[in-house]
Amino acid sequence: MKTSSTMFQDKHHHNHSKRWLTIGKGVPFVLTSLLMASVFSLFFLYAPNPLTHTPQQGHDIFQIPSQKQQQQQQQHEHATTTEVPVPPSKPHKEQKACDLSKGHWVPDREGSSSYYTNSSCSTIPDSKNCFKHGREDRDFLNWKWKPEQCELPRFEPKAFLHMVRGKTMAFIGDSVARNHFDSLVCLLSQEESPKEMYKDSEDRFRKWYFPIHEFTLTMLWSRFLIEGTERMVNGTTTGVFDLHLDRVDADWATQLPTLHYAVISGGHWFFRVMHLFQAQALVGCVYCDHPDITHYNPDFTIRAAFRTAFNHINACKHCTTMETLVLRTFAPAHFENGSWDTGGYCNRTGPVTEGEVDFDKFDWTVRNVQMEEFERAKKERGLGLGLGLGFEVVDVARAMLMRPDGHPGEHWGNKWMKGYNDCTHWCMPGPVDMWSQFLLAVIKRRNSVQTI
Ligand SMILES: *[C@@H]1O[C@H](CO)[C@@H](O)[C@H](O)[C@H]1NC(C)=O
Ligand SMILES: *[C@@H]1O[C@H](CO)[C@@H](O)[C@H](O)[C@H]1NC(C)=O
Ligand SMILES: *[C@@H]1O[C@H](CO)[C@@H](O)[C@H](O)[C@H]1NC(C)=O
Ligand SMILES: *[C@@H]1O[C@H](CO)[C@@H](O)[C@H](O)[C@H]1NC(C)=O
Repeated sequence: MKTSSTMFQDKHHHNHSKRWLTIGKGVPFVLTSLLMASVFSLFFLYAPNPLTHTPQQGHDIFQIPSQKQQQQQQQHEHATTTEVPVPPSKPHKEQKACDLSKGHWVPDREGSSSYYTNSSCSTIPDSKNCFKHGREDRDFLNWKWKPEQCELPRFEPKAFLHMVRGKTMAFIGDSVARNHFDSLVCLLSQEESPKEMYKDSEDRFRKWYFPIHEFTLTMLWSRFLIEGTERMVNGTTTGVFDLHLDRVDADWATQLPTLHYAVISGGHWFFRVMHLFQAQALVGCVYCDHPDITHYNPDFTIRAAFRTAFNHINACKHCTTMETLVLRTFAPAHFENGSWDTGGYCNRTGPVTEGEVDFDKFDWTVRNVQMEEFERAKKERGLGLGLGLGFEVVDVARAMLMRPDGHPGEHWGNKWMKGYNDCTHWCMPGPVDMWSQFLLAVIKRRNSVQTI
């Protein structure tokens, strides 16, 4: 626990002293002021800069097959014997790019209802088993995501397991990451039954093993990606958190050297009262009522958390097995006419169009902050020694903003929380299954680029 954060801090200080040395070249620089500068720059590193704009293109591209290839691919998809589409034969650069994140939902009878049901997948968590808890409308299952310029292929468990044979994949994040993890377990278990290898007492960390494909799928639960603890008063929780912006959460960081794939996400826990620490010193707060400390918005903390997490991954010298780092972007909640504790609900029965989505909402800001930090980490990786790690984005934010119908709402069977609706997690089966289609597509793409 200590080792990973210390290693990380050392690297940080080192980099910053170096940067300041370069700036201060030729200028007489007193050693003490250098130290001061280093400390301050460490802090300002996290100040959100509205002037830096990272282009949003080029990170989540997927190759558009030529018309002929597309036809071939469709034929392949209909032929039950083919598992993996033929990799494109043209060089990467000549391929047109298709952004999988931009598109719309189209009616499809072969939608997520055809992947699994609550009887063919026995591991659906009770709280996501919406039909068991009285959800009656089923139309929300009959849609597929159609990217503007290409098709997003159906999820093929065979193809997925084939590609991750012998590997370990971790989902790192909060309960929505867990939702994705559980959906993937259901999708894959239609092909091979996994063995449960590990489950902690609070059911936050979990590990499944697919023996035929020697594939390990593990859930590493982390609310913030960085170190965060809830303040306790007289043995009870307070809802107030202390967050260390420069310390990565050791619960997942210590597991990193065992992984080949890491799927990182987060965001839902940052809208709480928080005290922010940098190098053990209080540097600000979120939603607090102290007049004498700097107040930040949640996006500041989200940016810091993702930056620290990605920096840690880039700096990890023992993480030699890591092949691909995946960012799964923020999936919005859909409380309407109230928030979770003031009677908000989500009882729509179909998707909305992109025109009906409010992109000024904070959800979209969270997604953009995550994308910016991911791009930044990817660029820094390219400049450093650690080439060879794939950076891929499963950018589901836009698609999921259009799916207010995909949540359990009142159908989540929690008798203690009666009256509260769950408009944050996603029914299984449901639109959440698309995230694994997207994941499969970007892993496939990465593999085909590598083989060219
Ligand atoms: C599956 O859903 C049906 C309603 O569609 C429900 O009656 C049944 O109890 C559920 N079964 C399980 C095992 O969850
Ligand atoms: C904690 O417990 C002590 C002793 O019982 C009491 O005096 C104090 O008011 C409590 N603090 C809070 C915040 O409830
Ligand atoms: C929320 O309230 C508004 C205004 O009262 C109404 O137009 C809208 O239909 C409501 N949303 C839902 C999902 O019922
Ligand atoms: C959703 O719930 C609200 C409040 O209970 C209700 O007024 C509305 O008619 C419901 N809409 C649907 C589509 O069931």
